[in-house]
Amino acid sequence: MDDDEQDGDKQETRPRPDFLTKPVLSGELVLLRAVTDQDLPALRPMLEDPEVARLTGSQGEAPDEARLQAWYRTRIGQDDRLDLAVVERATGQCVGEAVLNDWDGPNESCNFRIALAPGAHGRGLGTEATRLICGYGFEKLGLHRISLEVYAFNPRARRAYEKAGFQQEGVLRDALRWDGRWVDAVVMSMLAGDRQRA
Ligand SMILES: CC(C)(COP(=O)(O)OP(=O)(O)OC[C@H]1O[C@@H](n2cnc3c(N)ncnc32)[C@H](O)[C@@H]1OP(=O)(O)O)[C@@H](O)C(=O)NCCC(=O)NCCS
Repeated sequence: MDDDEQDGDKQETRPRPDFLTKPVLSGELVLLRAVTDQDLPALRPMLEDPEVARLTGSQGEAPDEARLQAWYRTRIGQDDRLDLAVVERATGQCVGEAVLNDWDGPNESCNFRIALAPGAHGRGLGTEATRLICGYGFEKLGLHRISLEVYAFNPRARRAYEKAGFQQEGVLRDALRWDGRWVDAVVMSMLAGDRQRA
């Protein structure tokens, strides 16, 4: 096979999405924007909350002040993921974070994760934040697929993801051991085309 034929077999690779620009995404209930140092006092209780840790399967210790600050500061400069603070519009308070990470360039896909502070649950904020950041991922970053995993013991998150447009793909059996019990993880995804079809 000559070089021309080989080139013909190559998949077209799109330019890297612009993850460095941190957008401001505004909905009715929440506004998403870059995380700042001023958000850290609001994010800390969320990261230290035992129930949030269980629901996200976070086994380790919450980071100390210095590590937390370093973590969020380095996120700003990363060109392969988007970390945004979720701000409740009614109060102007940061109530959590929403993230597109694990960017897979050739397959134009990302993972999605979100966590809100306990006092912010069950009021529609998570569904709207999910819609906003995923909409940005498809429309501005040109993603083809966004996927996530949610533990079977977290029906509230599953419902929020379904409302935002995610569909269940399958189950990773016994993906997590929590307090000595095995827990399944449900794999969900949304494709760019799903939004056009909806
Ligand atoms: C997951 C999370 C982002 C969802 O955001 P939220 O603002 O709490 O969710 P919303 O209020 O937008 O939607 C929740 C939906 O679940 C429903 N729900 C709540 N508890 C439920 C339960 N036990 N079973 C089924 N549905 C439930 C609510 O009724 C609502 O659906 P509805 O609007 O049709 O009535 C938020 O709860 C959170 O941060 N939780 C802790 C961390 C976490 O679980 N992160 C996700 C890990 S995968």
